[in-house]
Amino acid sequence: MRKKIVAGNWKMNKTLEEAHALVAELTGMVADEVKTPTEVVVCVPFPYLLPIKNQLGAGARVKVGAQNCSEHEWGAYTGETSATMLASAGIPYVILGHSERRQYFGENSSLLVKKIDRALGQKLTPIFCCGEPLEVREKGTHEGLVKQQVEEALFHLSAEVIQKVVIAYEPVWAIGTGKTASSQQAQDMHAVIRQHLAGKFGPSVAQDISILYGGSVKADNAKELFAQPDVDGGLVGGASLKSREFVEIVKGVA
Ligand code: PGA
Repeated sequence: MRKKIVAGNWKMNKTLEEAHALVAELTGMVADEVKTPTEVVVCVPFPYLLPIKNQLGAGARVKVGAQNCSEHEWGAYTGETSATMLASAGIPYVILGHSERRQYFGENSSLLVKKIDRALGQKLTPIFCCGEPLEVREKGTHEGLVKQQVEEALFHLSAEVIQKVVIAYEPVWAIGTGKTASSQQAQDMHAVIRQHLAGKFGPSVAQDISILYGGSVKADNAKELFAQPDVDGGLVGGASLKSREFVEIVKGVA
């Protein structure tokens, strides 16, 4: 059975003090209100990883994740943080290939292969992001592009290892725009991704891989999106910065 996951992507937001306050509210609400086994993750800026992990405590219900890692393990790479470092700090998740990394930092599939391998090599769970820009959606070639993104970054893995990856489908036109994909558009693409995984790794492996939807997920659209058979939760940006909104999204998982 694949896991249901709701992960918040804080991006470059919040002071440390605000981060602690948000996590304190969030953990209280999750403990009181979330009755499902949904995995709840907050992907926070690098300097907050350890303070937030310590705040959450050992065996916490809410997990912490990073938003990126280096393709290198160690060395003279000023400003970079490696998967080995994240693992040594006990961080279980890392977002890789977010469209903002692809767009503003030139990340491409060959780089992402290295980052995915570093993360998996350290037993981190990568949340691998894929998704098409608006012009590709308008041309109608979005399924081909997303299949290609998944194939280029993940198809070198073995059937055993691919099951350790979480995929997030995030149409670029829906990120931070308030323009959510319809639940049907999300389901259609998730089914395409799962079918593509099945073709390469076999149907039972594909059935076990969590595929999250991201792009303007809100409390009022989460339930319908998460009710789709191939949507296993969400990767949430803006709405993860407010505890009440984020918890309502988590509660949108049946
Ligand atoms: P958004 O961002 O929820 O603010 O659209 C999603 C993401 O970038 O992961």
